[in-house]
Amino acid sequence: MNGVFGPARLGPVRLRNRIIKAATFEGRTPRGVVTDELIEFHRAVAAGGAAMTTVAYCAVAPEGRTERRQIVMGPDVVPGLRRLTDAVHREGAAASAQLGHAGPVSDSSSTGNAALAPSWRLNPMSMRITRAATEDDLRRIVRVHADAAWTAVESGFDAVELHFGHNYLISSFLSPRFNRRRDEWNGSTEKRARLARDVARAVRERVGDRIAVLAKFGMDDGVRGGLRPEESLTVARLLQADGALDALELTCGSSLGNPMYLFRGDVPVREFAGAFRQPLRAGIRLFGRAVLHEYLYEDAYLLPEARKFRAALTMPLVLLGGVTSRRVMDHAMVEGFDFVAMGRALLMEPDLPNRLRTEPMARSACTHCNKCMPTIYTGTRCVLAAHTS
Ligand SMILES: Cc1cc2nc3c(=O)[nH]c(=O)nc-3n(C[C@H](O)[C@H](O)[C@H](O)COP(=O)(O)O)c2cc1C
Repeated sequence: MNGVFGPARLGPVRLRNRIIKAATFEGRTPRGVVTDELIEFHRAVAAGGAAMTTVAYCAVAPEGRTERRQIVMGPDVVPGLRRLTDAVHREGAAASAQLGHAGPVSDSSSTGNAALAPSWRLNPMSMRITRAATEDDLRRIVRVHADAAWTAVESGFDAVELHFGHNYLISSFLSPRFNRRRDEWNGSTEKRARLARDVARAVRERVGDRIAVLAKFGMDDGVRGGLRPEESLTVARLLQADGALDALELTCGSSLGNPMYLFRGDVPVREFAGAFRQPLRAGIRLFGRAVLHEYLYEDAYLLPEARKFRAALTMPLVLLGGVTSRRVMDHAMVEGFDFVAMGRALLMEPDLPNRLRTEPMARSACTHCNKCMPTIYTGTRCVLAAHTS
C-alpha cells in the first residue's frame, strides 16, 4: 500500500489520496435545501486537498431528520446537490452523501413527525415519546435508504455513507439497550443486525457499482447495556460477508446516551446551554457536566479499538477520531487502515491536507475544545478559526 497521499480505490471510485472529510452536520440548510454557503463549505474542503468530502446530513425520510433544518433526500434536492457535487469535482475531489435515519435521536418537536425507534422511549431533548417501528415502517425504511442512494447517484455523488452509528435508527436496532422488541428484529445479534444488513444490501442493489457505499459503523456505544465491541465485531463480520459495502468507517458513542464518548476533550457546557431556549438551557447548565461525561483526548483515540477490527476483517476500513497530523496518518497506513477521516481538524482548517503534504511535521491546531459542536444550530464552524464562515 502506498502512503496516505497516494491514489486509492474505494470500491468503484478512484480517490486522489486516502483522506476523507468526516461528516459534520453543516447547519447551512435552514429550509432543508442546498445553499451557496453549503456549497462553499464543501468546495473549500475539496480545494484543501482531502480526497473526498462528506455532506451531512442527508435524511432518508422526513422523520429521519434530527431537526427540521436538514435535507430530506428526494427529487427536489437534486439540482442543488448537483451544483454542490460539481463544485467539489471542479476542485479535484470526490463527494459522499451521509444517508441516515435519526430514529430516536430525532427531535420530533422540531421535525413535526413522530420519532421512530425499535421500542418506545422518552427522548429527553424533545420530551416526547418515540414510536416503536412497525413491520411496514421497517420495509419503508429499507426502501427509502435505497431511494436516497439513488438520489445521490442522480445528484453526482461518488459515494454514500450509511449511518450505522451513534444510536441513530439502525444503530439503535443493533443496541441491546435500545432494542427491546420481542419479534424477529431482536433476540440475537443476527436479528438485531437485520436492519443494517437489509439496508446495505438494498442500497447496493439499487446503485450497483455506480458509486461507492460505505457505512459509518459504531464499534462501541459507550453506554451500559449497549452495543459493545465483541458484538459489533460480529455484526461487522456479517456486513463483510454480505459484500454490499466498500468500506466501514469506525466510530463509537451514542448521541442519546453518551455523546462525548465519540469526541473526547472538553465539554462545552456553557456553549451548549446557550444554544437552547429555557427551560432546557437551565437544565443543561445545571446537569450538563453530570450528563456529558468528559473523556481524555489523545490523537488517534479510536485506534486501540479499531485495531481489533483491522485484525479480524479483510474489508477496507477508515480510521476516525483524532486524526490530526501526518504522523497519525502514516501510522494508520502502517496499521493497515485504507483511509483516514477527519472532522474537527478540517472544520478548523479545510486546507490542512495540502499543508501536511508539503510540511510533514505540521499538525492541526484544533484544541478539541468542542465548541464547534453547539455551532451546528447556527452554521457549523470552528470558533477558533478566523477564516471559517
Ligand atoms: C460539529 C460536528 C458535527 C458533527 N456531525 C456529524 C454528523 O452529522 N454525522 C456524523 O456521523 N458524525 C458527525 N460528527 C462526528 C464526526 O464525523 C467525527 O466522527 C468526530 O468529530 C470525530 O472525528 P474527529 O476527531 O476527526 O473530529 C460531527 C462532529 C462535529 C464536531
